[in-house]
Amino acid sequence: MNLRTYFSEQARNPTGVFGRVVMSRIFNLGNAALNDFMKSQLELTEYNHVLDIGCGTGKFLHEISNCINTGKFEGVDISAAMVKIAERMNRKSIIKGDVLITHGDFEKIDYIEHSFDAVCSANTIYFWPDPRRVMEKIYRILKPGGRLFVAFEDKKRIEKRPLDFEIFRTYSEQEVANLMTLSGFSKTGIASMENRSGKIHCCTAEK
Ligand SMILES: C[S@@+](CC[C@H](N)C(=O)[O-])C[C@H]1O[C@@H](n2cnc3c(N)ncnc32)[C@H](O)[C@@H]1O
Repeated sequence: MNLRTYFSEQARNPTGVFGRVVMSRIFNLGNAALNDFMKSQLELTEYNHVLDIGCGTGKFLHEISNCINTGKFEGVDISAAMVKIAERMNRKSIIKGDVLITHGDFEKIDYIEHSFDAVCSANTIYFWPDPRRVMEKIYRILKPGGRLFVAFEDKKRIEKRPLDFEIFRTYSEQEVANLMTLSGFSKTGIASMENRSGKIHCCTAEK
């Protein structure tokens, strides 16, 4: 396996020492701006039940669950290594019953329909085998009026990196917004900002 493929595979499903040590640092530091941007799009006080798909180290869950005292915050991640780190980071809130982290593939988990106020996901759409199918599932598990937030880096910015683009699939902000509409969502919006490393986007929509 070449380096591009190895790194892309680790970003999709971190494993072993490399996953635990290197990828967790990359997620916490390299993804911080994107997660902060997604958080700024969420009007937090409005939500009681939030799901973070591909929660990685659980930093986003830790931050949002500490912003509001009410509500339940769930994360799901396919990587056992990430789930362990996320559980450690959210230990107190898990004990209190405010946070729940599930290990598994989002698409294979049976969530109760109409149960979430908001579903968020940062830096994960690249790995969804069929983004429309994933969004249709998100639509089913959101309550009426519930909101979807999908944050990702700009296509051009990612495509400059030495990655395996068969694993790391990129989308323009318009493509993501269109997928949301095709999946049944309305009130689709695109928020973008530019930082030192380039553009980032957060597409939002309502059930
Ligand atoms: C690039 S990381 C982003 C992590 C975190 N959201 C962040 O912004 O730092 C992608 C995460 O999605 C997880 N992931 C990929 N495919 C998944 C799936 N089908 N179901 C659940 N988690 C998945 C990976 O294990 C990884 O932790």
